[in-house]
Amino acid sequence: MAVLGHKITSRKELQNLGVYKPGKPIEEVKRELGLHRIIKLASNENPLGYSPLAKDALMREMEKITFYPEGTAPVLAEKLAEKLEVASEQILVGNGSDEILHLLTRSYIRPGDEAIMADVTFPRYETNVRIEGGEPVILPLIEGVHDLEGMLAAITDQTRMIFVCNPNNPTGTIVSKMGLKSFIDRVPDHILLVIDEAYFEYVTTEDYLNTVPLVHSYPNLIVLRTFSKIYGLAALRIGYGIMHPTFVQELIKVKEPFNTNRMAQAAALASLEDSGFIEKCKRENDEGRQYISTEVEKMGLSCFPSQGNFVMVKLNRSGDDVFHSLLHKGIIVRSGGVLGLPETIRVSVGTKEENEEFIQALREVMQ
Ligand SMILES: Cc1ncc(COP(=O)(O)O)c(C=O)c1O
Repeated sequence: MAVLGHKITSRKELQNLGVYKPGKPIEEVKRELGLHRIIKLASNENPLGYSPLAKDALMREMEKITFYPEGTAPVLAEKLAEKLEVASEQILVGNGSDEILHLLTRSYIRPGDEAIMADVTFPRYETNVRIEGGEPVILPLIEGVHDLEGMLAAITDQTRMIFVCNPNNPTGTIVSKMGLKSFIDRVPDHILLVIDEAYFEYVTTEDYLNTVPLVHSYPNLIVLRTFSKIYGLAALRIGYGIMHPTFVQELIKVKEPFNTNRMAQAAALASLEDSGFIEKCKRENDEGRQYISTEVEKMGLSCFPSQGNFVMVKLNRSGDDVFHSLLHKGIIVRSGGVLGLPETIRVSVGTKEENEEFIQALREVMQ
């Protein structure tokens, strides 16, 4: 059917904005390539699924989906507050941590404001800043790591927000404990400092700063966490921010009234009870991460040192080509081409078997 044209244009901020390119879904690859068995190692999801306690909670909650959820997820916020040793007024639960990012820029970025971030890092910082008419100030990573000194030097009178992704997606690298503490000390207190810890639970090194306790003494600090990664609830869309209560109150004005759904709230709450599951995921991820890095090095390649549930492999050839070759073998990874590092691929850590299949396939492709 022919569609009529129209004369209505969107805001100028949207004109040159691209659409977020997620990892290819399994269903799409099956359809396109006619493959039956697909291993998806593209979106940093949990290969071990999610806690059985969450499953039970979901089943129980199903009976109640006729009723709207509680708008601010107070029971979950209370539980998180207890676990993190903050006040529940300091927690905002969002439709994924993506939503908290969106709410932050919606509420605090004015046209012309600058927001400092790394290149490369999680792309939603830049997109959200641009949507509000802000100016992303983008600083290259140094050896895959945030250039904190460079970020401080880039502060101007227009700087409104700084994003630090720790561990960084897509490189998996972290900033040192002392380096980050000294950075937090030196960021002027009128600038919002957003530290995105989506992969916090996977970190095993001692040289990592847990920033949540600092929210008490640095009122401009906001920490983001999620249930999408180690908790394995990506599709339910639930994450949270820890911040000064006045920010929570402002963001609540902007959010959708029922931004997180009943199922997500119930599953997240139950997941917090299952520390055994989280420990197991962390342990197996660490083993998988080490296995992938070691095997990649045996092939004469290298990777960024990762503290996340993914590894970025440096190929010295086109990431797009390797991505496509792996795809034809039924393995979906992310090409560094779309992530801003064209000669790399990012592979999420899978189960032991998936990691082995990935390594075998990569070996064949690289030959
Ligand atoms: C660094 C980082 N922050 C935030 C997110 C968004 O996570 P969520 O599913 O909680 O919206 C992701 C997801 O991949 C991520 O990698």
